[in-house]
Amino acid sequence: MRYKTLGKTGIKVSQMCLGTWGIGGQGWSEYSDEERLSAIQTAVEYGVNFIDTAPAYNSGQAERYVGNAIEKMNNRDKMIISTKCGNEFVDGKYYRCGSKKKIMKQCEESLRNLKTDYIDVYLVHFPDPEVEIEETVDAVETLKKEGKILHAGVSNFTQEQIERAEKCCDIEVFQPQYSLVDRKDEELIRWTSERKIGVMSYGSLGGGILTGKYRHLEQFDPSDNRVRYYPYFKEPLFSPIMELLKDMDTIGKERNVPVSQIAMNWATQKEFISSSIVGAQSAGKVIENCKSFDWELTQDEIDLLDKKSEILLTY
Ligand SMILES: NC(=O)c1ccc[n+]([C@@H]2O[C@H](COP(=O)([O-])OP(=O)(O)OC[C@H]3O[C@@H](n4cnc5c(N)ncnc54)[C@H](OP(=O)(O)O)[C@@H]3O)[C@@H](O)[C@H]2O)c1
Repeated sequence: MRYKTLGKTGIKVSQMCLGTWGIGGQGWSEYSDEERLSAIQTAVEYGVNFIDTAPAYNSGQAERYVGNAIEKMNNRDKMIISTKCGNEFVDGKYYRCGSKKKIMKQCEESLRNLKTDYIDVYLVHFPDPEVEIEETVDAVETLKKEGKILHAGVSNFTQEQIERAEKCCDIEVFQPQYSLVDRKDEELIRWTSERKIGVMSYGSLGGGILTGKYRHLEQFDPSDNRVRYYPYFKEPLFSPIMELLKDMDTIGKERNVPVSQIAMNWATQKEFISSSIVGAQSAGKVIENCKSFDWELTQDEIDLLDKKSEILLTY
């Protein structure tokens, strides 16, 4: 595993952060409890010290898996846990919930689910269009003063929204989507990184398309996050992504590595990314992803992938 500092938090985090949206168990492939717990434990065995979760991941279920795994491993002090507020999942639907009252309640529930008395990184999941950003972020600042959270951040915010948030609270972490198939926030990410805001990027495998597992258009249930949340498994993006995968296949064959590892290295070798979050629910996939850090792309390979992925920005 390789490690970087998460911006001004000063925390050394693994360059792979384990994502738990899938582990939560709604809208992704089904795995047993044992497999999901083993995925978390295996990540830790392979050097991952950073886990991302949220109350919106199956109404707290993902947080409960994380809490149970950490209790079993008895290693709370060694783990950096990131969870979120301002978004919830009720009866199969996601709702924004950025009021101060709701966030104070969500934090108590997250602490219970995670079986801990502090959260290392606490992020506003999405801005709530019906609540002023100042109210939402003030709740997070209050939680920090109370010692319930150590570092505050935001996810899916624009530059203007981050600047507003910064007036109420020290924003130390940003969680945007970033991968070879989604570079639209690259300028914003550079800007946050220059301000010493630590960047933990999500969707590092484009919801799975950058594993090379999907080579033909497939039918997914509309509630499956591969099509509900990500646009890559349908046209117009699917065909240009298949072209990009051909270049990744060439590098993969030369190096004898899976394309998913190329995607992970491409993201984490960018100086403005502290850690890339990857969702994987089985020990085997976690190991394959952790092995990305046994090798590095050359600058020529990065330049080629930068150039080839640019076309996706035009869609
Ligand atoms: N802040 C936000 O708004 C936001 C939004 C989205 C995600 N996130 C966070 O970021 C994390 C990562 O994003 P994501 O989970 O949406 O997408 P992702 O990590 O890009 O892709 C996850 C998909 O890739 C598959 N996968 C992972 N490793 C694989 C491997 N080695 N071989 C084959 N398939 C593999 C997973 O399969 P299995 O499920 O079968 O293991 C899953 O279907 C989330 O879990 C969550 O913590 C945050």
